[in-house]
Amino acid sequence: MITSFDNAAQILRPPEHGLPYLRSNRASELTLDPGGITVSEEGTITALESTPDAHLRIDATGCALLPGLVDCHTHLPFAGWRAQEYEQKVTGVPYEQIARAGGGIASSARALKETPNDAVLHQARQLAGEMLQAGTTTFECKSGYGLSRDGELRSLQLATELGRAVDQQTTRTALLAHSIPHGYTADTWMDEVEAMVPAATEYVTALDIFVESIAFDLEHLDRMGRLATDHNLHLRAHVEQFTTMRSVPVALKHNARSLDHLSAIHPDDIEPLANSTTAAVLLPGAEFMGKEATAPARALIDAGAIVVLATDANPGTSPIFELPTIIGLGVRRYGLSTREALLATTLNAAYVLDLAPHTGSIEPGKRADLVLLDCPVEHVAYRLGRNPVAATFIAGEPVYVRPDAAWRIMKR
Ligand code: NIG
Ligand code: FE
Repeated sequence: MITSFDNAAQILRPPEHGLPYLRSNRASELTLDPGGITVSEEGTITALESTPDAHLRIDATGCALLPGLVDCHTHLPFAGWRAQEYEQKVTGVPYEQIARAGGGIASSARALKETPNDAVLHQARQLAGEMLQAGTTTFECKSGYGLSRDGELRSLQLATELGRAVDQQTTRTALLAHSIPHGYTADTWMDEVEAMVPAATEYVTALDIFVESIAFDLEHLDRMGRLATDHNLHLRAHVEQFTTMRSVPVALKHNARSLDHLSAIHPDDIEPLANSTTAAVLLPGAEFMGKEATAPARALIDAGAIVVLATDANPGTSPIFELPTIIGLGVRRYGLSTREALLATTLNAAYVLDLAPHTGSIEPGKRADLVLLDCPVEHVAYRLGRNPVAATFIAGEPVYVRPDAAWRIMKR
């Protein structure tokens, strides 16, 4: 079935074909010209204009067309929520007290252990459905709430099953060093991690670690970097979230694919990160919900970094699953332009997941993962909290259509 998207008011396009990523200081080169798109039977973009010979026509009059949004940092799948803990947090109960009472990551680990597979998958599928309605066509899954060899591998198996069950394309990351499990030290747990990496490689494209005063340190990051190289996986890391740990130079040595959070990055680490091919994944939802410091996004962009925005969707620090909301928070908190924020949730996010050759931008040869907005792109951040998505397409197929936009989709 050939599909034609007709008469869009704005289409977000990269300045060149075949870019693996675009440094964020070049975001102003993205174009937003009006036009159409033709998609082949196979779901690939074939032309940057509409065609009269389509079997499916999408009337995009007055709408913006974006590449499908890519969420490169989530903690799906997990079990249950921690709303009680959020209320404690905002009313001033210190985190140590919450953790001592069994809260935090440990609480989600307990919930995951106690929840049967189908219930975990049911919740995760529901959330993936919400993400589709908000324009996410690709997302990353992470383990990290397993906190035992069996628990982590089960989590990766569940993530794999989730990937088969949802419309989106998914990837998996093994966050094997998230919290130090009971009965271990950070060092003895890293021995266990080393022993489980070979089994995890079957499922994942990246290894991840939480570097923080209450979790793992720079030596453990170094060790995870070596493990990633040895197993031909990308290194990703949760770094500089609460404490300035100086993780950046260590991670750059291992050519990390991304460093995530960076709210407390040391000023001297901005330049080297910006000059590298390691993406800076900023998580404004976690910063906002946790009243964390604000990452120096402007400085990173101006220095030439590959900046990315993601939800960090998880039941603790960021129970936000909608990228339009993250774009709104990112624009406000960091002072980003609309183009910078959209680049950060499309092409550059696809780069983090190694999927940029297939998705993340509107260009011939790429899969037709597309989002139809009922408004100009500038409204996404401006009308914060409102969902602007009229329809979401994966490989040219309409996988979500808001009822009031149904008239736009015409089959012949
Ligand atoms: O990315 N920073 C550590 N890990 C998660 C939070 C996990 C949780 O609180 O459940 C994060 O923010
Ligand atoms: Fe995270």
